[in-house]
Amino acid sequence: MADKLRVAVMGAGGRMGRSIIASLLDTEEAVLSAAIEDPESTLVGSDSGEVAGVGKNGIAISSDLSKVLDSIDAVIDFTRPLASMQTLVTAKNSGKLLVLGTTGFVQHQIQKIEAASVQIPICFSSNYSIGVNLVFSLLKKAATVLKGSDVEIVEAHHNKKVDAPSGTALSMGRVIADAQGLDFDAVAVKGRNGIVGARKKDTIGFSSIRAGDIVGEHTAMFVNGGEATMTTRWFPLDIKNLAVTSTLKGEHHAWNQHGFTFQNIA
Ligand SMILES: NC(=O)c1ccc[n+]([C@@H]2O[C@H](COP(=O)([O-])OP(=O)(O)OC[C@H]3O[C@@H](n4cnc5c(N)ncnc54)[C@H](O)[C@@H]3O)[C@@H](O)[C@H]2O)c1
Repeated sequence: MADKLRVAVMGAGGRMGRSIIASLLDTEEAVLSAAIEDPESTLVGSDSGEVAGVGKNGIAISSDLSKVLDSIDAVIDFTRPLASMQTLVTAKNSGKLLVLGTTGFVQHQIQKIEAASVQIPICFSSNYSIGVNLVFSLLKKAATVLKGSDVEIVEAHHNKKVDAPSGTALSMGRVIADAQGLDFDAVAVKGRNGIVGARKKDTIGFSSIRAGDIVGEHTAMFVNGGEATMTTRWFPLDIKNLAVTSTLKGEHHAWNQHGFTFQNIA
């Protein structure tokens, strides 16, 4: 492995891809080595630095990760579930480190990611904010103390987001369900419409707002008979604050051990 981790960024023209390419410039331990886009993207062939708004860097956006494997050590992928599953296979077969942030996976895809993490180092999180990971630990405490309350999670995102509820909202729900000994998939109620009947005890409700350029807001409410309401709220002001490239820093190289998650860093 070279002195610096040589990184391929998948989805180089996307919101996260562009932000990650910009923040790699401030990451001493890592360097951008390849920028990959969907073969259908009109950005293929463009300079990835220019696309990211940080000036020309001489790394043209290409469209096939398997063709750049000799020049990379790690892959960062914030794209779409199907594209990320392809990245997973390529990273696994070539033994590359993988930082995965895509959301919207279904259960059998998550199982494949977990299985691959036994073979290659994978850092996988629905949210790379230090703040939201703190919120996860606060939620764990609240879920234990306020067990029996009605739990509702409301999230708001920009109008380009394609999955709902957000991966972060689902993670919040899982933390609460785990802390209350509930089966998350059995108690999650995603969106309500029409005559849905009275709220069932021990369910966790999700509501999603999609509007404008909201970066992302998440509120978890614990409501107990009008007597106690407790919310934890997290909203990033800029996606640049997500600590994606911090996973590549020297002191965090422990995540090279298999099965590491971002929660260990946050
Ligand atoms: N984990 C987190 O902290 C976090 C934060 C923000 C967004 N996300 C998630 O990351 C993903 C991307 O978010 P975004 O806002 O950047 O979306 P985006 O639509 O702006 O970018 C996705 C990019 O992936 C590209 N892409 C699609 N197929 C590809 C392929 N086969 N190979 C290479 N590139 C491909 C698209 O062309 C697009 O440029 C979403 O799932 C989103 O929910 C996660």
